[in-house]
Amino acid sequence: MSDSRVIPVPSSSPPSQSLVNALSRALSRREAKSARRRLTVLPQETVDFSSNDFLSLGTSPAYRGRFMTHLKNAPDSFPFAKELERFVADFHQAPTALLFNSGFDANVGVLSSVPQPGDVILYDELIHASAHEGMRLSRAGKRIMFPHSSAAGLRDALQTQINEDPSVRNGTKNVFIVVESIYSMDGDVAPIRDFIQVVDDLLPHQNGYFMVDEAHSTGVFGPRGAGVVQELGVQDRMFIRVHTFGKALASHGAVVLCGQETKDYLINYARSLIYTTALGFPFLASIRTAYELLANGETESLQVRVQELIRHLHTRLHSLRADQSVLFEVDHFPTSPIFSLRTSKPRQLAAFCQRNGFIIRAIMPPTIPEGKERVRVCLHSGNTEAEIEGLVQTIQSWLDQCELRSANL
Ligand SMILES: Cc1ncc(COP(=O)(O)O)c(C=O)c1O
Repeated sequence: MSDSRVIPVPSSSPPSQSLVNALSRALSRREAKSARRRLTVLPQETVDFSSNDFLSLGTSPAYRGRFMTHLKNAPDSFPFAKELERFVADFHQAPTALLFNSGFDANVGVLSSVPQPGDVILYDELIHASAHEGMRLSRAGKRIMFPHSSAAGLRDALQTQINEDPSVRNGTKNVFIVVESIYSMDGDVAPIRDFIQVVDDLLPHQNGYFMVDEAHSTGVFGPRGAGVVQELGVQDRMFIRVHTFGKALASHGAVVLCGQETKDYLINYARSLIYTTALGFPFLASIRTAYELLANGETESLQVRVQELIRHLHTRLHSLRADQSVLFEVDHFPTSPIFSLRTSKPRQLAAFCQRNGFIIRAIMPPTIPEGKERVRVCLHSGNTEAEIEGLVQTIQSWLDQCELRSANL
């Protein structure tokens, strides 16, 4: 008699091999769509127009010196972490702060646990993958997308929920509005004040809660780099803010800024916080280093320098000449260090620039929607006008080559 629990294994193909084949086929599908990712190391002597090290703290002697001092005087990690949370909370004018191992973990932890059963989440269509991951795990009754950075879109989505559900209208159900302050791919700034107005107009029972991810504004925007929310002075209106340390702060990890009850709740319910080892002392020391530099005003000149370079690159990119044979458009929000060069041949443009010593990267689906392929250029305070000139001339050469090739067809 055969045992129904035993799955027969075809003799020609061992199971491990068929799994590997399935993985290879998935990779081939990505390859065919020019969407396969590879981990690459930047060659030396190349110019970085790609990383999110916007303040160039990763190579700053001031940062390194202060970091080494913290390391030498290493106290116990736990009191150091607690004191760091206090320091970061004060800097961001928040009631409390809770450290997470990464921005990904912070978004997953918050969104998977804070919305209660039946609550409603309204999210911007371009929010980060980590927020999607958190929402997927959450017990919220509804997750509704609204058009990117559209206050009118948020108003429509919210009004629909109010019309459909009396408990949203009477304040028994909570509504979470999930946005970023600066979007990672287009570098545009969210209209947070307009969003607040929508919530004030439509939810008089104060059951609207903002969750804002400041990953890309940290260090770069706002007073001493405190972020867009503090630039607008609306920190008291945000239920949760997430700041990450892996971008302009040249470190790793993230912090959730919130009220004391929310912090206590996360300590008890956020699984991405509970079931993982906390940040080690070197990371705590580097986060402390970055925040001391911010709080002392030592990064203000870097913020100013980035803005100078942004204006320079903005002007230079708009002087580029592109023939109709190749789609080429520059998308840029005036004060953001992130530039998006839309072209139908992003991989070719990125590869051409890389061969000429300028590291920029093609951004392909699924990171961005189909049809929105682009090359992303990020500026850093450590870039120079000469480097920018080199990049712009290289892009112009590529555009000229495309034009020539299409003329010869
Ligand atoms: C908007 C946004 N949120 C969260 C994250 C995740 O942050 P981390 O790299 O610290 O996991 C990123 C980037 O990776 C991001 O761009």
